[in-house]
Amino acid sequence: MLNIVLFGAPGAGKGTQAELLMKEYGLLHLSTGEMLREEIAKGTAAGQKAKAIEQGNFAPDEVVIELVTSKILENRDSKGFVFDGFPRTTSQAGILDSILESVDSNVTMMISLEVDQKVLAERLLKRGEEENRLDDRNISIIEKRIGIYHERTEVVMDYYKQAGKFYPVSGEGTLDEILNRIKEQVIVATQK
Ligand code: AP5
Ligand code: MG
Repeated sequence: MLNIVLFGAPGAGKGTQAELLMKEYGLLHLSTGEMLREEIAKGTAAGQKAKAIEQGNFAPDEVVIELVTSKILENRDSKGFVFDGFPRTTSQAGILDSILESVDSNVTMMISLEVDQKVLAERLLKRGEEENRLDDRNISIIEKRIGIYHERTEVVMDYYKQAGKFYPVSGEGTLDEILNRIKEQVIVATQK
């Protein structure tokens, strides 16, 4: 399996590049943000518990882990996954390792999309005007998400650095430029 953890702040382009990587390598796109928004839209019990994400807060761990575990176990014969928005904490990173181990696999690499803070807010405000994502609707929720990223999520990089699986890439430029940078790093990681 090729398992890529696509990492970066809110607005870094995880969802956008995940779609391109999915086509490029035949991988499944596992976005915990998308999965949670779907549960909320369907009005499930998981969705009820995840409502806080509309204010920029994390969903409870048990809800996220349940969704991720079923998706991986149901697709254990796939070519691999692009994880987008997961893991978001060091504890989730450890749990991902155990889930993948249970299907005889592991994380191949983390690609971290590096984007200037000002560009992040501009991208999300623009999307807020175009689409109906509740957590993009004002600058204070956007800033809160970016703040939580720095406080709780950024440290997940260290977990993958220690494992020798950390690959930073600039997330600014055209979609193709960024995709090509990622593809170069995939070659490096898979030839190791
Ligand atoms: P999630 O959906 O993961 O949101 P996020 O991390 O805030 O990231 P975004 O989806 O906003 O940005 P992105 O990096 O995907 O960028 P995108 O490609 O869309 O999570 C939502 C919420 O759910 C979280 O806040 C959290 O509360 C909760 N949650 C999720 N996972 C969780 C977990 N594991 N545990 C607990 N809670 C969890 O791009 C952004 C915009 O920029 C788009 O409009 C795009 O078109 C544009 N763009 C992209 N690339 C470029 C480019 N190169 N140039 C110009 N514009 C670009
Ligand atoms: Mg996204």
